[in-house]
Amino acid sequence: MTVRLSTRVQRVSLSANAAAKSRVTQLREAGRDILDLTTGEPDFDTPQHIKQAAYAAIAAGATKYTPTPGVKALRLAVQRKLAQENRLEYPLSSIVIANGAKQIIFNAFAATLDDGDEVLVPTPYWPSFPDSVRFNGGEPVFIECGLEQGCKLLPTQLEQHITERTRWLILNGPGNPSGAVYSEAELHALADVLRRHPHVLILLDELYEHIRFDGRPPQSLLNIAPDLLDRSLLVGGVSKTYAMTGWRIGFGVGPKNLTEAMAVVQSQSTSGASSVGQAAALAAYNGGLDFLVEQVAAYQLRRDILVKSLEAVEGLEVLEPQGGFFVFVRCAGLLGRHRPDGLRIDNDEDVVAWLLEEGVAGVAGSAYGLSPWFRLSIATATESVAEAGRRIATACGSLR
Ligand SMILES: Cc1ncc(COP(=O)(O)O)c(C=O)c1O
Repeated sequence: MTVRLSTRVQRVSLSANAAAKSRVTQLREAGRDILDLTTGEPDFDTPQHIKQAAYAAIAAGATKYTPTPGVKALRLAVQRKLAQENRLEYPLSSIVIANGAKQIIFNAFAATLDDGDEVLVPTPYWPSFPDSVRFNGGEPVFIECGLEQGCKLLPTQLEQHITERTRWLILNGPGNPSGAVYSEAELHALADVLRRHPHVLILLDELYEHIRFDGRPPQSLLNIAPDLLDRSLLVGGVSKTYAMTGWRIGFGVGPKNLTEAMAVVQSQSTSGASSVGQAAALAAYNGGLDFLVEQVAAYQLRRDILVKSLEAVEGLEVLEPQGGFFVFVRCAGLLGRHRPDGLRIDNDEDVVAWLLEEGVAGVAGSAYGLSPWFRLSIATATESVAEAGRRIATACGSLR
């Protein structure tokens, strides 16, 4: 029997990333040598002291339900982290913990959107932003931010797209897939526009806040414009910084009535996040960031290697990432060319399919709302990144 599905679920789709990943698995099982540059998670292991804290928590009996907005000790640690790392002061009542940043974002839209409400989504975007909006009855309003503007939203574009129905603007920095980071001046300019439209809430996704290159310190819109704090939801978590994607812990901080409503949504879906995951996240926030220096240096080295090799390829234009896990590449120059087997390359999906045949898996820009581009992950071994650069150069060189 084929079950009739809700219209709500039909508005969203399985992530393109998951699809790309399963294609890699299939090909590898068939014996092919594929470099997987699709992943959005660190290749590093969760630090040992964090794992130890989780073992200790289990031994001490932290195996029961947790309060829906999160264990108090973890919320206090997040409060302290925000004060020390981000120079932002929040009351405890403004802090909510969930099963990953993804659930925080979902809960925020579930708690605030009515049918037809608009959410401004700068493009390229992380695909869960628009799908989470759609699932919750809202309408994503896409704002194309191309190469010439460094894939960053311009204040004029923001002004043009705000309507009476706009509920949220999403800002993600360092960006997935672009790696773009807004400068202080750019944040000032966006803040000026937002001040003119007090009905617009701001969702700041800063999950990659500590993965920044060239010595850039974390910088949030809220440091530049603290007056926007009371209508912003700051989203963060341990997934990327502490190599803890599988532990599923994220946080949101924002206006008290919003975070309380988000906890109500969560109380009817998953309840409080895992007791063990929260104990591990507590150790992460209490343990400092020293271990990360080496990892960020590794990401930066891989970025440099990949950017250098792709910049030399005719037909590709590379946006040098300033943070995050990805290199985003424009491939308009390859369209209309022919592969050695005669097939014509018409779009970024054709480019990605061709590169997969040549042994490199990436994800087409269409998955992030911007074509013709493709995304490559640098959260994988340095040798694989270097070899991927070589394979792409050879493959592109064979196009006619
Ligand atoms: C921009 C962005 N936000 C949120 C998430 C979700 O993070 P979490 O693992 O904490 O749910 C991701 C994961 O890929 C991401 O890239």
